[in-house]
Amino acid sequence: MTSTLDGLALHGGTPVRTRPFPVATEAAGRTFGEEESAAVLEVLAGGRLNALGGSHVAGLESDMARLHGVGHAVACSSGTAALHMAIGALDPDPGDEVVTTPVTDFGTIIAILAQNAVPVFADVDPLTGNLSPESVRRCLSPRTRAVVAVHLLGAPAPVVELADIAHRHGVPLIEDCAQALLTEPAPGRLAGTVGDIGCFSLQQYKHITCGDGGLAITDDPALARRLRLFGDKGRPRDTAARTHLSFGMNYRMTELQGAVAKVQLGRLRGVVERRRRAAHRLVESLRGLPGITLPAEDGHSFWSFPLVLDPSLAGGTNLRWAAALRAEGILAEGRLLDHPAYASPVLANGRVYGNSAFPLSSPPSRKDWTYAPGLCPAAERLLATTLLVLFWNEHYTDADVDDISTAVRKVHTALT
Ligand SMILES: Cc1ncc(COP(=O)(O)O)c(C=O)c1O
Repeated sequence: MTSTLDGLALHGGTPVRTRPFPVATEAAGRTFGEEESAAVLEVLAGGRLNALGGSHVAGLESDMARLHGVGHAVACSSGTAALHMAIGALDPDPGDEVVTTPVTDFGTIIAILAQNAVPVFADVDPLTGNLSPESVRRCLSPRTRAVVAVHLLGAPAPVVELADIAHRHGVPLIEDCAQALLTEPAPGRLAGTVGDIGCFSLQQYKHITCGDGGLAITDDPALARRLRLFGDKGRPRDTAARTHLSFGMNYRMTELQGAVAKVQLGRLRGVVERRRRAAHRLVESLRGLPGITLPAEDGHSFWSFPLVLDPSLAGGTNLRWAAALRAEGILAEGRLLDHPAYASPVLANGRVYGNSAFPLSSPPSRKDWTYAPGLCPAAERLLATTLLVLFWNEHYTDADVDDISTAVRKVHTALT
């Protein structure tokens, strides 16, 4: 007797799809045009590749600030750099605490550790993977210096509530928008503008790219100056002084990156619009499959397309599903991350700087910090069991989306 399992490509059946999909690391999956090439050539012809005194990075910054309706944007070399500038601008004392999510790229955490602060992990919503406000509230202490929220995969984090919680505690909210350009956490409000500082990445896999790059935005002129100082070795370029007012790095973006990023920013609305349209088609065609929670579309910018499985109804966990979908020719990932950020050896072993356990030890911290399994159960279950990520791209055609839908339905029928 044959079962529907035998029809799966994983078990020798015919795959739904054999043609490749557009991907973010190839031209077919990027939205580049002649304007990017022309801008790069213009920079080269001018001879100034550094942004000091140039016009491209400065233009990118003013376009980014205008797009977000804020007073200031500071460009830098990566999303991690933008987050480090944000933490640096707050100038925590060693051992101060920053409450954040364990479901994020490690760049979010590096920015905290690099300023000798302690990441304190709050748990997440079991469906979106975004910070749970209630859990954040429980993590606050007299040493809390900031809250960092991540808009995971482009889904809006509850930053209006989180900003309220942070501000009532007297600390700022930083929004990590690396995956969330044009995400709307509330109607008409863009990610990065609800908190005190918004941080973005222009790395290869993001909505728009210049290879590597980042931006931090704020409406607060004092914070903006501190961001800029931190990304430029503490040197006050707004004065003639050749001195260093505060600690900082060289995180300057080059004119070559700025030239590409400025043109890319002009394409952003179209990119997100196309991603949303394709995502809407998939949401409509998968609606009602038992055991699968589809992403809420409101405000989502669909950097990726997440499905959350109820393993008992959907016929298995994320890894089983990802293997079956990949065999069908669909770009699916069963492990967004191998584990929550706190299970990475650098934190699990408590070794950030040599053998010192600094800054996780007391002093300078108020206690010795350890990060044991079970710290954030919802995050652990999401990553290990329920979260399945479909790669997403603005060049997906209706036919591409329909192939994805067919494969998801096929796998669902076979596994359940
Ligand atoms: C949520 C999040 N935060 C931070 C970063 C770090 O950005 P970058 O890779 O540009 O340093 C990324 C990028 O992968 C990210 O997705």
